[in-house]
Amino acid sequence: MTKKIVLAGIRPTGQLHYGHYYGFLEKLISLQDSHDCYLLIADMQVLGDKIEKHNSLNQLSLNLVQQMVHAGVNPAKTVIYKQSDLFYETLELTYYLSLFTNYNNITHIPSVKEALPDNPSLSFLTYPVSQAADIALIRPDQVLVGNDQLPLIELANKLFARFNSLLQDPTLTLPDTTPVLSDTAKIPGIGTMPSSAKMSKSLNNALYINDIELDNKIKSAYTDALKLTAKTPGHPDQCTIAQISKAFGSDPSDSCSTGALGCKDCKASLLSLIKAKDQSFSSADINPEKILAHGVFHVRERAKDLTLFLKHKVFVS
Ligand code: TRP
Repeated sequence: MTKKIVLAGIRPTGQLHYGHYYGFLEKLISLQDSHDCYLLIADMQVLGDKIEKHNSLNQLSLNLVQQMVHAGVNPAKTVIYKQSDLFYETLELTYYLSLFTNYNNITHIPSVKEALPDNPSLSFLTYPVSQAADIALIRPDQVLVGNDQLPLIELANKLFARFNSLLQDPTLTLPDTTPVLSDTAKIPGIGTMPSSAKMSKSLNNALYINDIELDNKIKSAYTDALKLTAKTPGHPDQCTIAQISKAFGSDPSDSCSTGALGCKDCKASLLSLIKAKDQSFSSADINPEKILAHGVFHVRERAKDLTLFLKHKVFVS
């Protein structure tokens, strides 16, 4: 039986954090034996947003590969590759898909709408299309994403359907990809208000893997304003320490809301859970360049038929 193909992607903006880990990486790791897994380092997407990052991007990507492998991604099972190593293929597919994209398709995406500047750059506006191109190049059955990304997968499916209906050829069609959410798809940033803010480097609320400021971040994190003493019943649904503890496999909700557990003890137990998790990761020597070279080789082979086919279909036939 052929295995289902699953694709995940990450922007190389900084160190790996537990938002990434519990958002999609842990899930990807769990699928490595049962699925053909692909993991994309979306460096072109970062540049589209912040061109000033160009001189740190390569190192950030290499570090991220190393950290993800240490966290359990097995490069013998998961194809890890970098978007810019497939520069031409990505642009080619972005071009085709942009023929089917309207301005409103983009500006109606909530995560785009919220970040939309007055006079957005074209690269900012096209990133949802290039993300669809990432998906088209792999033709996965499923895309592993956090829930903020769902509208982008919906757009990709819409564009694929429009493209397929133009092509009218079943030999190489772009699939309808199912989004898969991690069980802990939304791990909030530490101590953030509202507690629903997602963990991210740019919001300055991330807990990194092997975070040198871990103790301090936990100790100083905001918890529950209404829990005035250790014994006051708390509101774990609105406390990021409780939410993050759940992702780490321990749910303090009951003992917090009855008042049996105080914030200080709750924080101490989260701290030891995180330290144990940090310890469980590997620190083996690996060669990220070699991993990416292997990855692009594999993906280029996979993408070749598609780009040749589309070029012929669109311009010649
Ligand atoms: N936009 C995703 C993020 O910010 C990263 C990404 C780029 C991605 N291309 C992708 C995710 C393709 C899944 C599939 O995290």
